Amino acid sequence: MTFVVTESCIKCKYTDCVEVCPVDCFYEGPDFLVIHPDECIDCALCEPECPIDAIFSEDELPSDQIAFIEINAKLADVYENITEASPPHSEEPQFKDVKNKIKFLNIDIGTDESKSNSQSIESNKIYLFDSGDVETNNQAFNIKDFSFNKDQLLKSLVIEETVILSIEPQAHHEWTMKIMEFLQENKFNVIKMRTLKE
Ligand code: SF4
Ligand code: F3S
Repeated sequence: MTFVVTESCIKCKYTDCVEVCPVDCFYEGPDFLVIHPDECIDCALCEPECPIDAIFSEDELPSDQIAFIEINAKLADVYENITEASPPHSEEPQFKDVKNKIKFLNIDIGTDESKSNSQSIESNKIYLFDSGDVETNNQAFNIKDFSFNKDQLLKSLVIEETVILSIEPQAHHEWTMKIMEFLQENKFNVIKMRTLKE
């Protein structure tokens, strides 16, 4: 069992939750925090700390927030660990009362390209566009046909090298998750995500 950060946190990030976690299992992206499901000890201390009730136990999630179980699990592997509170998101005043914020989830974690060799970056760039089109190293297909193109995608990548996944802002989050899942299944252990500018 784990606790899960849900949609309300997007572009708010009050971070009160972080201060109380005894095992430091919160991870931060530019617009959102997640809880690492393998590290959370289910102590429930964080839940009442969030001023906008964004945190739920996995078994008490509202039905429209179920997708956040997977979103927390996947993003925890690519976001940075956060152990101290920080000021809220810069756009928090405009977003604190907004509902259905998943479309604003910006998963740009930046790219520390200095840690990777330039050849692997060149070979292992994947672009996911708003239309669902995916392009990578001379290969192109649409994510809606993803189940038919896994071999094609795999052939275009250098196994065990860093993958840079660049995503247009309106691309559906489920599409990103499909690619992430595929990459993790195929042992691409270092995956960096960034958002393409509008
Ligand atoms: Fe951390 Fe406890 Fe919250 Fe899990 S339930 S994230 S261990 S404070
Ligand atoms: Fe997000 Fe609430 Fe923590 S807004 S950062 S879950 S305090």
